Amino acid sequence: MAIERTFSIIKPDATARNLTGAVNALIEKAGLRIVAQKRIRMTREQAETFYAVHKARPFFGELVDFMTSGPVVVQVLEGEGAIAKYRDVMGATDPSKAAEGTIRKVHAKSIGENSVHGSDAPETAAIEIAQFFSGNEIVG
Ligand code: CMP
Repeated sequence: MAIERTFSIIKPDATARNLTGAVNALIEKAGLRIVAQKRIRMTREQAETFYAVHKARPFFGELVDFMTSGPVVVQVLEGEGAIAKYRDVMGATDPSKAAEGTIRKVHAKSIGENSVHGSDAPETAAIEIAQFFSGNEIVG
């Protein structure tokens, strides 16, 4: 399988509970490398752009409020089949449906406050990485 890069966000519910290291430990245990990482406070504009695909959904306002409510850690993860692998490591969007041992099963509070985001496809990974990182900030 090819080496890929995926985009990850450790969300405000996780940073608030000081879980950055615990989440990163699960990422690294799965064999993914954190090749870029920074802690930021997302602006409303950044969150609205990032989640534009969900604009028509009833939870869009709540989602933007939550993602701008506290610090997040944005990351680029690298590894074999990184996109699918990270989705496995995160578990289902709704933590009550997530598999044992996944980040969301272990740490997430609800479908909204679900601790992490990961890209769903190569095209979206490239767009999401480019929204938050320039090439020289990614060191593989
Ligand atoms: P994420 O992977 O970041 O992509 C879109 C996010 O929308 C998703 O994780 C959830 O946090 C959020 N989301 C999805 N469904 C709901 C919902 N029913 N209510 C609130 N937030 C939701």
